[in-house]
Amino acid sequence: MDSPHLRLLDALRENRSRWLPARELALRVDVPLAELKASLHHLTSNGYRIEAHPQLGYRLLGEPERLVAIGLRPDRPTAGIPSRVIIEETVESTMDVAWALAARGDPHGTTVFAEAQTHGRGRLGRTWAGGKGKSLMFSLVVRPAGDGDAGHLLVTIAAVAAAGTLRRVSSVPAQIKWPNDIVVHGKKLGGVLLEHKPATSPDTWVLGIGLNVNQVPADFPPELAPHATSVMIETGSAASRELLGRELLAELGIWYSTFERKDLQLIESAWTKLSSTLGKRVMIEERGQNYTGRVVGLSPLEGLLVQLAPGGLRSFRSEQLSLQVLPD
Ligand code: BTN
Repeated sequence: MDSPHLRLLDALRENRSRWLPARELALRVDVPLAELKASLHHLTSNGYRIEAHPQLGYRLLGEPERLVAIGLRPDRPTAGIPSRVIIEETVESTMDVAWALAARGDPHGTTVFAEAQTHGRGRLGRTWAGGKGKSLMFSLVVRPAGDGDAGHLLVTIAAVAAAGTLRRVSSVPAQIKWPNDIVVHGKKLGGVLLEHKPATSPDTWVLGIGLNVNQVPADFPPELAPHATSVMIETGSAASRELLGRELLAELGIWYSTFERKDLQLIESAWTKLSSTLGKRVMIEERGQNYTGRVVGLSPLEGLLVQLAPGGLRSFRSEQLSLQVLPD
């Protein structure tokens, strides 16, 4: 969506420290003066603080602390992502909200963010706790056209998009710990959850992403604190959740179109470059059995290729197993 509201917001952001005369702003946003007023009003009613001066013009003083839909929509959605952005205050899990919207027929790309979740969930029945107003937590309705490989590839493209966005926007050296963790220096910063209900909704998937953005160490439960991190912990300063969220949706759309084009090579090479697991000694637990070995390959379709310690190569797929990276 290349809306005048967004162009106005961009212009105000780029010139934070100086006043922008109304005429100059209208030219930059490419709207008549009367429409500029309406866009300014739209932004202020969404929580942006904009100072107006009869001679000097306008300047941006502050942005809403809450997420607002307009700030989360990329300029140009790709592959229908996002088709619509909804923001909830507190929900049990955005996964459930997205499933309910999908069940009533809402389209591919419908995206639900929440400021807080009371029953956020992760892979393998784990819980996901994201601090209120400090995380990015959202779920996306995805309807891939009859694609049996969607399960493996969607987790991969979501993890690649998340790690890539964190690197590009926040300069955080994010990596992917197979299959769905986003880690920085070995600590967990985020995760991806993909759900499918083949019996009732065979053509629909719900993709959830959670990222710790502005948490400080004391925000994590004591048992998690040594293993968890956030963008703010890594960079030392608060990050704009809105900017990260918008860029992540934009990147997800681009990777989704790569998935639609079936460019598996591109997906695999991006994934491999971002992997923290490739080459590592690992212990894998699968249905109560433990395997140790070294990861020698990664493939979105085949899974993890492991040279087992007792000898022999085996590939593991992610559905029901957990992985621990061992020291070399
Ligand atoms: C994991 O690390 O196992 C996946 C974590 C996924 C968390 C996100 S937060 C938004 C969405 N809603 C949920 O309940 N879970 C996902």
